[in-house]
Amino acid sequence: MSDIDYPLLESQFNAIAGGEQDALANSSNFVALLFNALDDINWLGLYVLRGEQLVLGPFQGKPACVRIPVGRGVCGTAAATRDTQVVPDVHAFPGHIVCDADSRSEIVVPLLMNGELIGVLDVDSPSLDRFSAADREGLESLCRAFCRVQSEAPGFI
Ligand code: SME
Repeated sequence: MSDIDYPLLESQFNAIAGGEQDALANSSNFVALLFNALDDINWLGLYVLRGEQLVLGPFQGKPACVRIPVGRGVCGTAAATRDTQVVPDVHAFPGHIVCDADSRSEIVVPLLMNGELIGVLDVDSPSLDRFSAADREGLESLCRAFCRVQSEAPGFI
């Protein structure tokens, strides 16, 4: 069960990034804010859509795989379906791509800007079944706020 104050995080993000037009600075701060606010996670970052591939963007955690084809792994599935993937046990997800062997559960939220997929937010936890319905809702809302702010900044991410 999550006791993270997602509305507070969202207002903090809007305060940090709302007046800033640099997309890379905003996405870096988005990732840093979330990584430090969520407990029991070992990796959090963005993959950016470049053609038919997701390419590693700003993140916190161990170095990770750089390119993921849309449709592959948890990230690629979220991108292909444009639907959040909550995976309670990554070993039970067919095609899961191992980046950090410590990861046991994962959530991936698609980033949709004006209806267009621009990438995904990926969060990994060393605990099984870490991500609740409240986490899903909170992270989806944060990703909508992120895309709103980034739609004002040239270059997306
Ligand atoms: N596990 C992901 C790959 C990215 S890393 O977890 C950072 C996947 O299956 O798409």
